[in-house]
This record gives sequence, C-alpha cells and structure tokens, in this order.
Amino acid sequence: MCGIVCYVGNNRAEPILIEGLKRLEYRGYDSSGLAVQDGSHIDHIRAVGKIVELEKAINGIDIKGTSGIAHTRWATHGEPTEHNAHPHSDEKGNVFIIHNGIIENYQSIKTRLEKKGVKFRSETDTEVLAHLIAQYFEGDLKEAVRKTMSQVEGTFGIAVIHRDLPGQIVVARRGSPLIIGVGEDGNFAASDVSAMVRYTKKVLHLNDNELAVITADGISIFTAQAKAVTRDAETVEWSAEDVDLDGFPHFMLKEIFEQPDTIRNAMRGRVDKGEGVPKLGGIMPVWDDLKECRHIVIVACGTSYYAGCVASYIFEKLTEIDVEVEVASEFRYRKLNFPPNTFIIAMSQSGETADTLSAIREARRKGARLLGIVNVVGSSISRETEAGIYNHAGPEIGVASTKIFISQLTILTLLALLLGRHHNMSLTDGVEAIRAMEKLPDQVKDILSKSNHIQAIAEKYYKYGNWLFLGRKYGYPIAMEGALKLKEISYIHAEGYAAGEMKHGPIALINPDMPTVAIAPLDSMYEKMINNIQEIKSRKGPVIAIVTEGDTMIKEIADDVIEIPPTLDFLYPILTVVPCQLLAYYCAQFLKRDIDKPRNLAKSVTVE
Ligand code: F6R
Repeated sequence: MCGIVCYVGNNRAEPILIEGLKRLEYRGYDSSGLAVQDGSHIDHIRAVGKIVELEKAINGIDIKGTSGIAHTRWATHGEPTEHNAHPHSDEKGNVFIIHNGIIENYQSIKTRLEKKGVKFRSETDTEVLAHLIAQYFEGDLKEAVRKTMSQVEGTFGIAVIHRDLPGQIVVARRGSPLIIGVGEDGNFAASDVSAMVRYTKKVLHLNDNELAVITADGISIFTAQAKAVTRDAETVEWSAEDVDLDGFPHFMLKEIFEQPDTIRNAMRGRVDKGEGVPKLGGIMPVWDDLKECRHIVIVACGTSYYAGCVASYIFEKLTEIDVEVEVASEFRYRKLNFPPNTFIIAMSQSGETADTLSAIREARRKGARLLGIVNVVGSSISRETEAGIYNHAGPEIGVASTKIFISQLTILTLLALLLGRHHNMSLTDGVEAIRAMEKLPDQVKDILSKSNHIQAIAEKYYKYGNWLFLGRKYGYPIAMEGALKLKEISYIHAEGYAAGEMKHGPIALINPDMPTVAIAPLDSMYEKMINNIQEIKSRKGPVIAIVTEGDTMIKEIADDVIEIPPTLDFLYPILTVVPCQLLAYYCAQFLKRDIDKPRNLAKSVTVE
C-alpha cells in the first residue's frame, strides 16, 4: 500500500528520499513522487510506475533542497496517473501533501470547496486536504493541519510542507502508521521503519490524532487539542542489513532461508526446559484472567489467519480452551456473543492490517479482552491491545509472508503449552514438547538443504495451470497456506482443501493435468491421507507428497515426494509448510514472476 518518507536536515534530501522510497517498494505501489524544498523553491516531481521512472523524471534536475516529502501511491481513488500521484498541492502551489489512508467524507468536502471556486486537478481523496490546509493557513502550518484534521473522517498518515516555512515538515496520523526517526544529521518520518533504518534506529511513534512538527534539529508532538506531548524515543531492533538482499535473488527466498533463526528468535528466552513451561513476559499483565479463560477467538487475515487455523488444533490438543478462528473482515460484521472472560488474539505481521484493527475495535466495544501477536514493534495493533507477544522476526519484505507464518506458529505453540501446563498437561509432555521445539530450527535447515530437489519438482510442474493442496487436521491449514503461496506469487490457480472434502466435489477436477500436493507426514491422519492419494492416483492425477523421512508406503504411490524430519504431530505444520513455500517460490521463478512484488498485492493492507 502507499508509503511515506520524509527528511529534513543538513544533507540533500533527494537521494535520501529516493533511497527511502526504494525501501518501501515492497509494500506495493503504482506511482510515486516527491516535493523537495529549498527556501521558497519547491521541486515537485511525480511519475507512474516504478521508482526508476521517478529517477528518470528527476534526471538532469539539480534538486538542492535539504527537506522534502516523498510517496509511493497504491491507487484507491482515481487511476494510477501522474496527476493522481502524490504529493498534491493547493491551487497556488504553496501547500504540498502526501497521504496514506482514505478520506471518507472527501466528496462532501470537495463539493463544498468547488462551490467556493476551488479547481481540483486530480481524482484523489487526498487533494481536499491540500486545499483545506491552504485555506486554514495563517502562518502556522501545524494549526492549519490541526484544523483540517477536525474536518475529515477516515484514516490518514500525512506529511505536509508549506512554501513559506522552509525546513519544516508537519506530520499527523489517524489510523495509518507514521513513525518519526531521530537522526544525527536531520530527522525523518516514514510509514515504515525500513525506509529510514539505514539512517537511524531511534524512533518516536505518533498516536492516533496526534501531529508533530519536524525540523532539522527538533521534533515537537501535539495532541489534536494542540497540547504538547513529551515522548521518549525507542530503539528499533532492525538493522540496515535486514533490509538488504544479502546475496539472495529475492527477499522471499532470503526470508524462507532465515526461518531456522526465526524459530530461534521466537523462542529465545521464552522456555524453561526443566519445567516444560514457556515464559511469555508480554502477556503477564493479563495472566490472571488469561489462565482462567476457556474461550479464545483468533482474528487475522490471509497467511496470519491460516496460522490461527493451525493454532486452533494445537490449543485443542494441549489446553482446555475452545479456540475459534475468524477472518478479521468477517468477524467485524458478526453479531458477537462472547462468553465472559473471552480473549481475542489479533495476529498480524505488520500490526497495521485495517480489517484486523477494525475487528479488535469492534471486539473491544463488546467487552472482549485483547491480545496481540505482532511483528512490528509499536504498530497500531500492538498499541491497541492490552498485552501481547512480539515475533522478533525482523522485517518481512517479500510481499508473500513466509517467516512470519513460522514465527506465529512457534509463538502460538508456546502460548498453548503455557496454558496447557496450567491446565492438565503433564510435566513429561511439557518437557517433551519443548525438546521437540528446540530441534525445529535444525530440522527446517535440513529441509532447506533439499531446496535443489524441490526446485527440480517445481521445474517439472510449473506449467500446470491448476493445482490442488490437500491436508487433514494440522495439515489442512497448511494445504490452504500452500495454495495461497502458489497463487499469489506464481499466479497459478490453486485450491487448498481438507482432504476429506475431496470426494464431496473437487475430485471431479482430478485428471493428469492437475497436480495435487498432499501434506502427508506421519501423524494421526497418515492412513487417511494415503487413501486420498490412492483416490487421486486411480484417476491419474499427479501427486507431490510431503512425507516424513523413511516413509515407504507413499513413496510407492506418489509421483514425487519431499521428505521432512520426524517431529510431534502438532509441530509438523512448522516443517510441512517449508516445502510448500519453496515449491511456490521456484514455480514463480520458472514463470519469471515479480516474486517480491506480485501484481495487485500490497505488503500491508491498510484499507478495508
Ligand atoms: C500472504 C500474505 C497476506 C497477509 C495478510 C495479513 O502471503 O502476506 O495474506 O498474511 O495480508 O497481513 P498481516 O499479517 O500483516 O496482518
């Protein structure tokens, strides 16, 4: 989705802004632009397409200014054209603004302004903000932005400059992320830490309805009522290397190969081997109620939702808690009847997914308790939940989520173990589970070492246009996640199904042109999966089976097998998903897709 990056300092702003925009490319966008200020002169350049198009448009222009705002746009209102790209300005070209989010009442404001004679030059909702700010401006940009904020409904993260106030950027937020970076040689603002982590790791998070005035040597934060706010800077864990490819052709592959470390990071300092009890400091503020709770609802979207689906089986096995999993965009519109002491767990890599945020706001209104499992520290979901657990997985840049899925599974398993040990799970079972979890990083590494084999399988099948993924119990959400990975980055049509459902419809599709990926490790569903594979083979459907090392029965019937090491049944998803990720990656590579930035997708979906 849209990205914001701003700089004001002692250096030329343009290269810093372009570098920041490139770091935001992974979020998905269709046009970009910047406005850089040098005294009362403002260079305002926009382009459709990739950042390289913006660089071409800038080529030959000597942009000297040391403060500026820059944006990547993902079209919502109006096509991806140059005149719809941000920054937008008022008619006189005094105010320049970039905006993430949606102004819901823009049409009524636009009509009002047009009646006053204002001429609009774009189809965007954002442009109304530029005109409103210009109308309210009486020498104080912060005041003009504040008054504008009181007029608009919807969500925004904005950054604004004014021709009369060089060296000053005003930023504000409501519902869309905006982080301020405190630098040595100037200050920053961005919608995403990765845009500025190369320059600074010291950040200040803006709360909803706050605004800030940023200059080269100062940052002042204010409430919507213009009251000054003091806030300490936090240090982000991410490093500049985290946002580099480090020799990998794509971030997705780099992140798949990081997964042994992702599991270690999710578990670091969080297990007590001797007692078989995880330690999760982040949920201690609600622990007394959580340990009594018997009903949890996990709300999430996409891959995070599938991690929640796996967790429902794990909680069922290890605890006495009923777990429901809801797609966040549906949850919000349901008539909710929670039993008392119900906890909602919002799970989100970005912590900014609009549907998940809306779901927790609705749940809060209905009196539910709120926990978050989030990767991005300080993100909206982490701030709007009572307590929670961070993934500590570093930035995930590939649009297709991989390492966060594994991290979410690891954390949810730790949480289930912790609660299970407080219910009726024995010490022996707790210790056995933690021992098995500690082996997972090396076991994932072992699967990754077979990537050539998986690549060869992808080469054999990548031209097939329709795929089926089947699994049972713990393997069912992995089938859905495997199908999602394949379709989103290779554009191959794929469906994930509960294997038992196959004979209730999808079996009609089976023929020699439709490969099936069968998630068939040696768990309690093994025999049933063999039956499904037999059914497919007797209809001449090709089968790629993900099996436990040493399996001989499936090897005889499947066309291709990918082996994974043995583990406990409820830990298999952490292993079975890895071959699915690699299969999707290599198919997309053979099809020459834009793997880290698949068409139409955005990393962080901040609109509903
Ligand atoms: C798929 C994918 C998406 C996200 C979904 C939720 O590979 O990345 O389905 O999982 O948009 O995003 P978060 O976890 O940031 O809330």
